[in-house]
Amino acid sequence: MFVLLLLSLLFLSPHLFSPQLSYGSSSPALSNRQRFPTFFRTHPSATLHNPTRVQLFQKWKWTKIATIQQTTEVFTSTLDDLEARTKEAGIEISVRQSFLTDPAPAVKNLKRQDARIIVGLFYETEARKVFCEVYKEKLYGKKYVWFLIGWYADNWFKIKDPSINCTAEQMTEAVEGHVTTEIVMLNPETVRGASNLTSQEFLNQLMSKLGGKNPEETGGFQEAPLAYDAVWALALALNKTVGPLKAKGRRLEDFNYNNRDITAEIYRALNTSSFEGVSGHVVFDAQGSRMAWTLIEQLQGGSYKKIGYFDSTKGNLSWYGYDRWIGKTHSFIIVMNFCIPYFTRRVN
Ligand SMILES: *[C@@H]1O[C@H](CO)[C@@H](O)[C@H](O)[C@H]1NC(C)=O
Ligand SMILES: *[C@@H]1O[C@H](CO)[C@@H](O)[C@H](O)[C@H]1NC(C)=O
Ligand SMILES: *[C@@H]1O[C@H](CO)[C@@H](O)[C@H](O)[C@H]1NC(C)=O
Ligand SMILES: *[C@@H]1O[C@H](CO)[C@@H](O)[C@H](O)[C@H]1NC(C)=O
Ligand SMILES: *[C@@H]1O[C@H](CO)[C@@H](O)[C@H](O)[C@H]1NC(C)=O
Repeated sequence: MFVLLLLSLLFLSPHLFSPQLSYGSSSPALSNRQRFPTFFRTHPSATLHNPTRVQLFQKWKWTKIATIQQTTEVFTSTLDDLEARTKEAGIEISVRQSFLTDPAPAVKNLKRQDARIIVGLFYETEARKVFCEVYKEKLYGKKYVWFLIGWYADNWFKIKDPSINCTAEQMTEAVEGHVTTEIVMLNPETVRGASNLTSQEFLNQLMSKLGGKNPEETGGFQEAPLAYDAVWALALALNKTVGPLKAKGRRLEDFNYNNRDITAEIYRALNTSSFEGVSGHVVFDAQGSRMAWTLIEQLQGGSYKKIGYFDSTKGNLSWYGYDRWIGKTHSFIIVMNFCIPYFTRRVN
């Protein structure tokens, strides 16, 4: 197919007016319509976590936040976006710490500056290093709330890692109670969308193709629904161009990279995508990024529990009331709102 391009090609061909579609890119930099005018992705931007984070700060009435990040473009631009959004909501980011490889000084600074609500952005390997330091600095427990990214392995804090010298018990103690946000990549509803497959049927087919390989050890397994929906987005968009092109006396078969008429029709068709995929409802925002729900979980007694969903296009938080707070089990007033997230709703 002619528009499933590699990221590298994006940079090589900025002048090419050919729609480009990705299923695995989360970098906020790709939301720049000046630099990437024809880019679409079925994977949401990493900034999609931020409206959810701000929603939770507001829900829990927190007005001062600290952050710690690994120095990497994707985390830096995500935090820049968070800073803008918190500012708008009247919430202050009072401490912003970063580290390249050794988080110990950054964690010490958080402690010294009395950080309490801390958003941590780093990859899983660094997360273990951070929480070993968090254990040593005692930057956990009832006075602290950590917000992490939800895509680590479920037992990430217990995985044996020669770069840390904390025990699994110490790590388990330090991570207890943290909150994660995660992009929903598999439709939780049982609906037959464009492909006439439910998300479960899609998974079953994928598993049988894997022939017994462990999904946990299969790179890209989690994102597979996004790749599948990217192909559908493309197919539906191409199909949608047939009528308009015919009206102009053109056919898709006449496509070449210099033909502006045809590429403009494909762009318009992708831009107005709206269908039920195996990853959920597929729509793109004005920057071409996928809009999706986020899932909020909390680590309770060493395992993750789903505590809510957030639909940022509607500002709609579906809350289960399952959140637990160390040493404050009863003092939190939880607004019970027993909504089952209705994932199939149209988002625009
Ligand atoms: C862990 O390593 C640090 C520095 O590498 C050292 O200062 C500390 O004593 C070690 N702790 C244990 C329990 O081995
Ligand atoms: C959709 O799938 C169901 C179950 O496999 C099947 O019964 C039905 O005929 C399919 N519909 C279409 C339009 O293919
Ligand atoms: C493809 O386009 C035709 C009109 O050109 C439309 O009737 C048909 O429903 C479309 N197919 C899908 C799967 O959307
Ligand atoms: C694409 O959609 C956005 C809104 O999501 C709109 O602002 C823009 O004008 C559309 N572009 C085209 C070429 O239709
Ligand atoms: C919010 O989501 C719930 C289900 O999760 C739904 O019942 C409700 O109508 C939604 N509210 C809005 C304003 O979309």
